[in-house]
Amino acid sequence: MRGRLLHGRSTKAKTVILGGLKDHLKTIRRSRRIVFIGCGTSYNAALAARPLLEELSGIPISMEIASDLLDRQGLIYREDTAVFVSQSGETADTLHALEYALENGALCVGITNTVGSAIARNTHCGVHINAGAEIGVASTKAYTSQIVVMAMFALAISGDSILSQARREAIIDCLFELPCKPHLPTFPAHSSFCCKVRGVLELDQEMKDLANLLIAEQSLLVFGRGYNYATALEGALKVKEVALMHSEGILAGEMKHGPLALVDENLPIVVIATRDACFRKQQSVIQQLHARNGRLIVMCSKGDAASVRTGGSCKVIEVPQAEDCLQPVINIVPLQVI
Ligand code: F6R
Repeated sequence: MRGRLLHGRSTKAKTVILGGLKDHLKTIRRSRRIVFIGCGTSYNAALAARPLLEELSGIPISMEIASDLLDRQGLIYREDTAVFVSQSGETADTLHALEYALENGALCVGITNTVGSAIARNTHCGVHINAGAEIGVASTKAYTSQIVVMAMFALAISGDSILSQARREAIIDCLFELPCKPHLPTFPAHSSFCCKVRGVLELDQEMKDLANLLIAEQSLLVFGRGYNYATALEGALKVKEVALMHSEGILAGEMKHGPLALVDENLPIVVIATRDACFRKQQSVIQQLHARNGRLIVMCSKGDAASVRTGGSCKVIEVPQAEDCLQPVINIVPLQVI
C-alpha cells in the first residue's frame, strides 16, 4: 500500500477531504440508503467497509453483487446513493448495474482505480483509489486501497458530530500508520511512526512455509465475522483464484448451521480472531472447532496467541493490531501471500 492514496486527503487537522465528492456530500447525507455495488474482490472490499459506513453515517447501507441486482431487477430509488466499486472501472456487470441505477434516478458514485474508465466517466462523482496498476489477474493492493478509500468515504460523510469525534480521530491516526511508504509531506513527524502493513509483510516466510504445508490439500475453509467476514470471503477467493484450490469463506456465526458438519482432523481451517468486539465469540468458535478435532490455523493480534490456543493446539499467525475497522487491511495480507 502506498502513501499516495492518502496524499492531500487526510490532514493533521484530522479531517478527510475527498475533492471528487465535495459537491455531492449533502445529497449523499440525505440519501434514504446507500447501496454498494460491485463484483468479486471489489464487492468484498465494500463488505469490509460496511460496518464502519453504517456506524459513522447512520444511513442504512445495502450491498449488491452487480449480476444479482440485474438478475432480480432489484429496487433502486431516486433517493438512493449507489456506489460502484471497481478496480478496472470496466467490469461489464458493474457497468450494466450503473446504467440501471442511472435509469432509476439514483445519485451514482464511482470508486475506481482507473482514471478515465467507463465507471469513472459515467458516474456523477467519485474517488480514485490511486493504488497503481494491478499487474496480475488477482486484485490485491486494490482490495486494501478500496477499503481505505471507503473508510475515508465514511469519514467524509459522517460530518462533524462531537459524539463520534474521538472515533474518527483514532481512525485517521490509524490510516497514517498503515502504509509501507511514509513519504508524504502530511505524515505526522512523530518518531513512533509504525508501518503496520510492512509489519504484516514480515510474515512472508512464515506464510510461504504454511502454503507448502497446504499445497497437497483439497480444500481450505476460512472463518471470519464482523469486520473480518469480508476477509474470510476475500482470502478464500484469492486461494481459489491463485492456488486453484477449493476454498470457502464462512461467516463464523453460521458455523452451527451447516459448516460444522465438514470439520474433522484433516480439513485445514483458518479462523480469523483478531481483537475486536467479536473476539470472545471467535474464541468460542475455536473451542467448538477444537472439540471436533479441527485442524486450525488461527490469525490473532500480536500477543494473543495464548488466548486463542485454549481448548487445543493450533498453528497461530500473529498480526499487528489496528483500529478494528481497518484491521481487514492487515488481515488479508497473510492470506494473499498464501
Ligand atoms: C479477484 C478479481 C475479481 C475482480 C472482479 C471485479 O482477484 O480480480 O474478482 O475483483 O472481477 O473486477 P473490478 O474490480 O475490476 O470491477
